[in-house]
Amino acid sequence: MPGDPLRAKYIAENYLDNFIEINNTRLMLGYTGYYKDKKISIMSHGIGIPSALIYTRELIKEYNVKKIIRIGTCGTVQKDIQLRDIVISMGASTDSKINRIRFNNHDFSAIADFNMIFHVFLTAKKMNLKVRIGNFFTTDTFYDDDSNILKILEKYNIIGIDMETTAIYSIASEFKVQALSICTVSDHLIKKEAISAKDRESSFNEMIKLSLETALLV
Ligand code: HPA
Repeated sequence: MPGDPLRAKYIAENYLDNFIEINNTRLMLGYTGYYKDKKISIMSHGIGIPSALIYTRELIKEYNVKKIIRIGTCGTVQKDIQLRDIVISMGASTDSKINRIRFNNHDFSAIADFNMIFHVFLTAKKMNLKVRIGNFFTTDTFYDDDSNILKILEKYNIIGIDMETTAIYSIASEFKVQALSICTVSDHLIKKEAISAKDRESSFNEMIKLSLETALLV
């Protein structure tokens, strides 16, 4: 699941055999096809927790989906992580109230599926890809001028900042399905750097291959 519908189209057109479009309502494009003979759907989830929660919940509840891999972009605050690096979320902290709403006002520990973490790590090694696995921070505010939170995120070793992962992990837990979130770093919030839209596309290819190869194993 990429956030961007056009990325879903790109993945289907470039990586899947015999694919068909399965959704274009609200232009939230989705495709089902085959990757190395395994049936796989690529469905976009849009931006932010509410959008991602609606699409993931419907996939799980209405379409019996058991394995979800998000492939997105994220920000970082760590000095030893560069633009275009691949970061993988073992868990996801948040400034959103979503998990408290869903978890009786307690703090839910939103974690990735272990089998997926295990296989994505092995796959990355096999592909000679350098990846970092650690804690994400899922935020409701993309444009936030508060530099204090960035210092805290850096101190607590948050490797990726996105807008969906914590919710995807909590809904996957609720329905006992597997989920994993992999991101390419598109913004360095301390160094104030960002990759161009064109660069985003090419750095995406390694992550697409990593996620599809992982999907074959989990
Ligand atoms: N913050 C939150 N989500 C993001 C970012 C970011 O800097 N970059 C890409 N997705």
